[in-house]
Amino acid sequence: MRWGSVYELGWITLAALAAVALTGIGLGWAEATLLVLCPLLARHAWHLIRLARLIRRQHRLVPPFPKGIWGDIYRAIGQYQQRGRKGRKRQLRFFRRFREAANSVPDALVVLDKNRRIEWANPAAQVLMNLSWPRDEGKPLLEVFTHPELADYICAGEYARPLEVAPAHNRSLMLSIRVAPFGERKKQRLIVGRDITKIFHLNLIRRDFVANASHELRTPLTVITGFLETLIDSAQTPSNHRRPLNLMQHQAERMRSIIEDLLTLSRLEMDEHAIDIAPVDVPCELEQIVADASALSGGRHRFSIDIDSDLMLLGKDSELRSAFSNLLFNAVKHTPPGSHIQLVWASTASGPIFLVEDDGPGIEPEHIPRLTERFYRVDKARSRASGGTGLGLAIVKHVLSRHDARLAVASEPGQGSTFTCHFPPGIALTASQLERRRLRAATSA
Ligand SMILES: Nc1ncnc2c1ncn2[C@@H]1O[C@H](COP(=O)(O)OP(=O)(O)O)[C@@H](O)[C@H]1O
Ligand SMILES: [Mg+2]
Repeated sequence: MRWGSVYELGWITLAALAAVALTGIGLGWAEATLLVLCPLLARHAWHLIRLARLIRRQHRLVPPFPKGIWGDIYRAIGQYQQRGRKGRKRQLRFFRRFREAANSVPDALVVLDKNRRIEWANPAAQVLMNLSWPRDEGKPLLEVFTHPELADYICAGEYARPLEVAPAHNRSLMLSIRVAPFGERKKQRLIVGRDITKIFHLNLIRRDFVANASHELRTPLTVITGFLETLIDSAQTPSNHRRPLNLMQHQAERMRSIIEDLLTLSRLEMDEHAIDIAPVDVPCELEQIVADASALSGGRHRFSIDIDSDLMLLGKDSELRSAFSNLLFNAVKHTPPGSHIQLVWASTASGPIFLVEDDGPGIEPEHIPRLTERFYRVDKARSRASGGTGLGLAIVKHVLSRHDARLAVASEPGQGSTFTCHFPPGIALTASQLERRRLRAATSA
């Protein structure tokens, strides 16, 4: 409260006293006070009504303000209004800047409400996704940007991996679509569409080049190996030519392995998911793989095998065979004689796991994240000597990704390494489930 209000009360009291003194005759204290209070109440009522009207009409309260307590109230409300105005201006400036920034983003940005209807989109969305704001505001996204895969992708709610789509309005484009849920209970979604046409084509060219080059090299190599074999087997070959011929045959064999692995990788890269999936009798496959690994080891390693004979997978048998054998053969090839190798195929709460553990030399931590790169080898010379192509773990990674599985590598130099394939629970099958599926298929056929 300011002093003005105190003075006001003082003046009122003085006026009341003066009124009593002046009238003196006949007027009591109550009447005199009422006489003074009436104009005062009228003044308060007038200010109250005026203030209510000003606030209702959203007028700005600016000086000059009335004297006394009403002046204080007017001033306080005026300051409050000013702070509100400044806050709103700041918000508006921020919103405009944010909109300008969002409008200048080269990626398509689309905000969806909780019913997947378009709330806002930036100008890039017009070019990349053929949807324009405010023209398409309120329309369902999947009505404006029709793509069957996008509908499934948004409904699935699993947005860890982006979706690559060629939009219907411009098939020469390739978009990488990402979805980010936000807002209350993550019901709203921000769709980000990035133009990856160039990268996609470069990848396509690289993939085709590798596939074609590998394919083209296959035939001449077959001819060379054929003649080498003939020369090695021929009794007329001079004995001093035998060693270089054997070396040539060994290197030709290495080249053949690299070409085969490159072709396998190209095939795996063609599709993101494994096609022709069917129940795979993993225990049966593993039996064969273990037999091959024992032959490769030639009795130089000790094996412990722990296989759940009731656990099968829905997948592609040739791909799974290739991934499992790569991991087990690696344990044989990259560990010294006498090493212990453990293989586990088991069901866990988070899904089936395939694990290969050895107590070999292990891998330094800086190499671990790069092991699945093509041609990445910790010790190039030793890997080549053991007949490795450096493509095995790249193949494993691709096979697992096509089965929605992942590879985990744990290793301690000098202690050994553990390679674990984690499969999602959805693709596990038990022998009895497999039998039931077969019966159902037989009866429906
Ligand atoms: N069990 C293991 N112990 C130690 N090092 C390993 C093991 N498995 C793989 N590696 C390392 O990872 C590299 C990549 O493996 P991979 O892609 O299968 O190629 P490679 O053809 O050499 O086997 C190998 O060269 C080797 O250095
Ligand atoms: Mg290997």
